[in-house]
Amino acid sequence: MPPLSTSAPVVQPADFRFRCIACGDLSDSAAQNFRCAHCGDLLEITYPRWKDAKPDADDLKSLWRNRRLSLSAVDLSGVWRFRDLLPAIENDQEVISLREGNTPLYELPQCARIAGVPRLYAKHQGMNPTSSFKDAGMTVAATFARRAGFRWVACASTGNTSASMAAYAARGGMRCLVLVPEGKISWSKLSQALDYGAVTCQLRTDFDGCLRLLQELVLRAPVYQLNSINPFRLEGQKTLAFELLEQLDWHVPDHIIVPGGNLGNSSAIGKALLEMRDLGLISRLPKLSVIQAEGANALVRTLREADGKRLVSVQAETRATAIRIGNPASWKKAVNVLEATGGACEQVSEVEIAQAKAEIGAEGIGCEPASAVTLAGLKRLVQKEFVKADETVILVLTGNLLKDPDFTIEFHRGELFQGAEGASATLNRLRRPPVILDATLAAVIRTLEQAEKS
Ligand code: F0G
Repeated sequence: MPPLSTSAPVVQPADFRFRCIACGDLSDSAAQNFRCAHCGDLLEITYPRWKDAKPDADDLKSLWRNRRLSLSAVDLSGVWRFRDLLPAIENDQEVISLREGNTPLYELPQCARIAGVPRLYAKHQGMNPTSSFKDAGMTVAATFARRAGFRWVACASTGNTSASMAAYAARGGMRCLVLVPEGKISWSKLSQALDYGAVTCQLRTDFDGCLRLLQELVLRAPVYQLNSINPFRLEGQKTLAFELLEQLDWHVPDHIIVPGGNLGNSSAIGKALLEMRDLGLISRLPKLSVIQAEGANALVRTLREADGKRLVSVQAETRATAIRIGNPASWKKAVNVLEATGGACEQVSEVEIAQAKAEIGAEGIGCEPASAVTLAGLKRLVQKEFVKADETVILVLTGNLLKDPDFTIEFHRGELFQGAEGASATLNRLRRPPVILDATLAAVIRTLEQAEKS
């Protein structure tokens, strides 16, 4: 007999609604491009049931804790364990899950000292089944794609979304189409999509060009779009914040710092924080800050040059290819959550990213360059006294080190930066290039002795 789950076996027909983030229009269904039928802006999911029957915060906390003892698949998922605050499923078997979520929260004592804060933690979303945070959103969006009867799902991607989508589509018996910028994503991510059976198109454009094309495609062909424009993705990604607060025993940190690319993840985490506050799960909000690479700084410029009122797009360029995005789709949602939580938006250089990544790595925690912008950004926020010397900070590490090994190898071999910057003493101290030796005991002992002195 399959293990019993802790879901109440009730069908909830009017469980959630779509709401336009600009004009507030409410609807029961969404067009294929997930844009408001009236004003064309993005949609988000709301739960009318919370108005009449607000879930009890203490009940939720104990229900979620108890589910950790369950052996049923939905309870073993670190996303569906929080399903009381997600769109309702009709039965547990319809969920497409790879046991996503349940990611560790690591303390980073050395990075805390470097940045100048007393307590620093990494919420490592790179420990998900396909090694990035995308899985948390994908399990929900793929489940609803299959429920809607789609045979094909599709996404534009800088690599991680496509890897995740391909895995969940395969598990759910759906076909999938991937649009990625040719030559601009790491081979590791591309190899995942290929292995999971995606139809992969390397387009001669950038991510923004891929996303534009996808938006047109979904209006012409019966494919379900799984980019973070799809609000089901963001519902799944919310659970990162639920799980984080649970891991902190519901003690609210002062800051959560997240990388910003297409700005879906920051929007999702912000939505979760506001919902947790409204439901009484937490009594105050942490400040949610977004960090971008200097070469892909559309949100930074949108806030500085247009006061967050209109998007300032950029031609994106950065070695942190996951966030090489110049025209972020969810910019308005991100502006809203930054305002609501009082967070900051900061940009960091390529050298700062590489240094931060090596510093995180030196603590035994591997992440990809896009994730390391969080530590680099924290240092800047401490310098600006936005983060105070006695505050607790969480960095959201979005992807695993092995997602982009070329970056790491080039860094340690000293090949990443040509010119003066690359020769900086700080970077050199962090570099651990491999040495090629004759296979003799003497050579290895000499290397050991030299390393001991350095
Ligand atoms: N970090 C990693 C490792 C990512 O892959 C992404 C986005 C981000 C941060 C930024 O998150 O877009 O929600 O602001 N990757 C997408 C992709 C765009 O296609 O894999 P965001």
